[in-house]
Order: sequence, then structure tokens, then C-alpha cells
Amino acid sequence: MKPFDVYSRWAIEPVKGKGCKIYDKNGTEYLDFYGGHAVISIGHSHPYYVEALTKQLQQIGFYSNSVFNSLQDEYAEKLGKLSGYDDYSLFMVNSGAEANENALKLASFHSGRKKVVSFRKAFHGRTFAAVEVTDNPNYLAPFNETGNVRFIPFNDIEAVSEQLKQDDVSSVIIEGIQGIGGIQVPEPKFLQELSRICKKTGTVLILDEIQSGYGRSGKFFAHQYAGIRPDIITIAKGMGNGFPVSGVLISPMFKAVSGQLGTTFGGGFLACAAANAVIDVMQAENLIENAAVVGSYLIGELKKIPQIKEVRGHGLMIGLEFEAPIKTMRDRLLFEEKVFTGVTGSNVFRLLPPLCVSKEEADEFLKRFKKVLQKL
Ligand SMILES: Cc1ncc(COP(=O)(O)O)c(C=O)c1O
Repeated sequence: MKPFDVYSRWAIEPVKGKGCKIYDKNGTEYLDFYGGHAVISIGHSHPYYVEALTKQLQQIGFYSNSVFNSLQDEYAEKLGKLSGYDDYSLFMVNSGAEANENALKLASFHSGRKKVVSFRKAFHGRTFAAVEVTDNPNYLAPFNETGNVRFIPFNDIEAVSEQLKQDDVSSVIIEGIQGIGGIQVPEPKFLQELSRICKKTGTVLILDEIQSGYGRSGKFFAHQYAGIRPDIITIAKGMGNGFPVSGVLISPMFKAVSGQLGTTFGGGFLACAAANAVIDVMQAENLIENAAVVGSYLIGELKKIPQIKEVRGHGLMIGLEFEAPIKTMRDRLLFEEKVFTGVTGSNVFRLLPPLCVSKEEADEFLKRFKKVLQKL
């Protein structure tokens, strides 16, 4: 047997990581400005994290949700405090798509409605409901097309109003900052109006903070730049620093119904140990503040580079749009300058470094990035 061949891969295999650096088997060092797709939050192989997971595994790695698990309560309490949502409840699952799947289902259980509004260029995952609210027909099997989802232009409040008029929409789902859509930041005014219209029409507002959350934007959640409080928030990626764990933050307006949601693996002991360790390190090392400071420094410096058409984003979620395709530039960055970056579409770089990235590492990135630009 061999792996099902659905990924295009670089011919590099990391065998070791430390902070914002990764190393291949020849000992070549790479600067990680991709973070394994925005997943690495506290840095690769953080000693506190490694010790916490090792200790937990030596005690007990897993049991199902049929037993008491005080690590889940401990984590929920820490998350509530750090995120500013201590009155919400937490349902833990295993991946971003699964978090959105549960969010959409919970909204529909609550409202008794079927329809969902999503946005152009949205990405919410690959499972049944998550892929249906994702705006990419290539990911949809005929089986997924229920006709329950309407896509509307991003930042278009008139279109939202129009869709919610008929009181048949269960939820509106939106990313805190669109990631795969090209680092598109929603206008604060738009989010405020969206929140108001959702409340007025009894529509559940779901904020997908899977990529933009967990401190990446320089605030715990990107939507906190607009000062809104959504009904449901989904988290994943940075939450486990690579351990597969995700969560649904649920406002007090939802009543928990025994047996309505469930999972075998979600919130097991090892997953909670990972999530607790990440949140401890984030607080101890002020990583949200670091993301804000180093992120705004990077954005400021990148805006001075004339070849870049537009710099978008907040904190350490940065998009760099070019007029022409960037493939050659990205390959040179990786293979000649030893820097990992993300892309979206053909013309946009996505910078998603670990939240612990230092100003010195940001300067090193800028130096290597400019070198590649000069060679072109
Ligand atoms: C905004 C957003 N939502 C959902 C997902 C899906 O997460 P997962 O791949 O863990 O299912 C992603 C993954 O990139 C994402 O960026």
C-alpha cells in the first residue's frame, strides 16, 4: 500500500524543528514562515509542550468522553479567560472541518432552519457541511450539493440583508480573516452590521477563526478588531501546535441536549494536555502581543517594497499580492534562500510564521525575500 496521491509536495522532509526553524535530514536549516499551514503557534518542539505531552502519555494517553476528564474543564476555563469568552461553553473535536460541521449542525438544531449563507472565496474544510459552505466547486462531489447554501460577495451588507429577509437562514458562516481566499480582512463596519442583522432575524452568526484565531491576528480572535460577539466560534490550527485538536465555542443562548453532539477522540487526555500546554506558553511568553508587534513591524516593512501590489492582514496573518504569478519567487525562496512560505491562488504569498517569531527572524526573512526580488 502507498499514500493516496492527492497532494503536490516539495522534495524536502523536515526531520527536526526548533522555534521558527526546521531542519531536513542533511541538516539544512529553513526559516519557517508558513508554520505548517498556520498550525505552529508556540514554535516547533517547545520544551514545555514536549514535556507536558510526554508526562501525560506516561500517565494515560486516552479515554473516551464516557468518563470524567478534569483536563477538559481546566482547558475550557483557561481558554474562556484568555479569549474573553468565559461565559461560553466548549465542545472539543479533532479538526477544523469537524468544528465547522458541528457549528453548522448546532445552529440548525437551534433555529430549526436549513439554509446557510456563506461568502465568495470562503474556505471552511472538506467534510460534508464544511465543504458545502466552501466556495470551490472542485471540492464538491455531486453527493454534497444539497442546495442549502447561498454564496454572497464578501463585505457586501446589502447582499446579507437581502438573503436574511425571508427568515429561513439558520446561520451565516464567515472567516475572521479569509485565509485561502487571499488574506481578505472583513471591514469592521461590515462585521458590526452583519452581527446586528443576524440578531434581528434570529440567524446564528458563526465565526470561523480556525486560521485567523488563537492570537495569530495580534488579538485572540480577528473578529475582536470589530468588537462583535458571535454566537458560535470555531478554533483549530494553533490550538494544539500540531496535535490534532479543535473546538466549538458556544454562546449561553444554546441549550446542551444530551447526546445531540458527540465524538470518540475529541477532548481526550493527550489532546487536552497539548491544548493546555499551548495556552500556558502563549500566556507566559506573551505571544499574542508578540504577534501584534512583530506582525505590524513586518507589514510596515513589506509596504515599503515597491514590487508588492498590496499587503493585507493583521498580526502574523499576512498576504502579499503581486501583479504576476509568484511560483518562481516562492521556489527560489524555498530552495535557494531556505524559507518556507504559503501561497493562495497564483499571485498571493501567505506569511503565517509561528507566533514566537522574533524581530531578528523577521529581518532575516525580509533580507532573503528582497534578495529573491532583486534576482528577478
Ligand atoms: C478558515 C479555515 N476553516 C477550516 C479549515 C479546515 O481545517 P482542517 O483542515 O483542520 O479540517 C481551514 C484549513 O485550512 C481553514 O483555513
